[in-house]
Amino acid sequence: MRIVLGVGGGIAAYKVASLLRLFTEAGHKVTVIPTEAATRFVGIATWEALSGNPVTNNVFDDVDKVNHVRLGHEADLIVVAPATADLLAKAATGQANDLLTNTLLMAHGPVLFAPAMHSEMWQHPATCANVETLRSRGATVLEPAVGRLTGADSGPGRLPEPEAIFEAALALADLAEGVVDSNESITGVADVLAGNTSSETPLAGRIVTISAGGTREALDPVRFLGNRSSGKQGAALAAAALEAGATVRFLAAHMDVEPPAGVELVRVESALELRDAALKAAVDSDVVIMAAAVADFRPAQVSDTKIKKRDGEDAPVVHLVRNPDILHELVEVRDSGGGGQLIVGFAAETGDDDGDVLQHAMDKLRRKGCDLLVVNHVGVGRVFGQEDNSVVILSQRGDTPQPATGSKADVAAAVIERVAAELNRVSPAT
Ligand code: CTP
Repeated sequence: MRIVLGVGGGIAAYKVASLLRLFTEAGHKVTVIPTEAATRFVGIATWEALSGNPVTNNVFDDVDKVNHVRLGHEADLIVVAPATADLLAKAATGQANDLLTNTLLMAHGPVLFAPAMHSEMWQHPATCANVETLRSRGATVLEPAVGRLTGADSGPGRLPEPEAIFEAALALADLAEGVVDSNESITGVADVLAGNTSSETPLAGRIVTISAGGTREALDPVRFLGNRSSGKQGAALAAAALEAGATVRFLAAHMDVEPPAGVELVRVESALELRDAALKAAVDSDVVIMAAAVADFRPAQVSDTKIKKRDGEDAPVVHLVRNPDILHELVEVRDSGGGGQLIVGFAAETGDDDGDVLQHAMDKLRRKGCDLLVVNHVGVGRVFGQEDNSVVILSQRGDTPQPATGSKADVAAAVIERVAAELNRVSPAT
């Protein structure tokens, strides 16, 4: 298939290099037409090397070949990625002031736009109208993915993953060819064209370990020291990670709710048991989220028999010893070569005379060394066991704190979305 790959002037242009590779590796002949602005992000040499074809954006190059007419005319498929607000506007209004816009006006085959821009631009009435115009003329405009954008902000506007655009492009070409009857219900194709592609499952192929609930530290066979954690937030995180396509290892301490179906479940009781389970699960995990409320101390001695009250004797004194800091240990093991997991902690904080919630949380983030810290403001009657939640996500890199509020499911979705964005940032799909 002859494909024209138009590249718009947005930072996501770098991701289009891997889209180009997917096309060429699948045997398609690709002519890349970057806009002038796109070449400020990725140079012409890169596009020429990856496509194996000469690349220009100038209508006055190779005039004898009449490129501004020929390329669009001959293309079986035109894909524009990233389709910036500017490019969508130009295409919708039929402008023809460079090689790509000329080519779009000459298109004989299907045209696919994969937008990428800031949420405000995407949601602006002008862009909405342009998208509607293009769609009404038969072009396919994918929905952008939701997630972390170039700055500290997040929302709809991310370029869909290269694999998703690739799938959508091939599905569109098949529809145009009549290989697929658009009236038939063909699994995947409709979803792909609606943008419901792998960008909806950003954690597909990832292993996410999540600890949840409260540990119980035995005093004797019937008594323990525990805490108020219900495990609801951890369960919501697991559900969100499953929905994002991840394999979820769920390390459940004591919980008031059932873990979601579909997780690989490991039940634990004490901090020491959780430590062993977490270190083991982390080895081949991509992400570890420590949402469990881990007891910092445990009784120094555990009585084999029930501790009895005896007339005339003083009340027993319980001596405590420190439990290991599992989160910190996970970071240490990782940093000494034990894998490359993204490690996320949760912090339950109250303000006090030494500082407010955020100051304590920043200190904790530094102390623990994890990549992200999700901070809950707790107090008696707040957060523990409640349906709604309000958190701030802090990062070791020092990004602007990201607030998330709503039901525990909403907060979980925000955390998982951020996790997916961080993973993409660590290993961009290029
Ligand atoms: N955590 C852990 N091991 C511990 C204690 C806590 O892995 N022994 C993890 C929790 O799962 C959570 C994070 O550390 O992800 C912060 O928990 P929190 O109770 O807020 O912090 P503490 O280290 O216990 O600090 P503090 O002295 O404020 O209680």
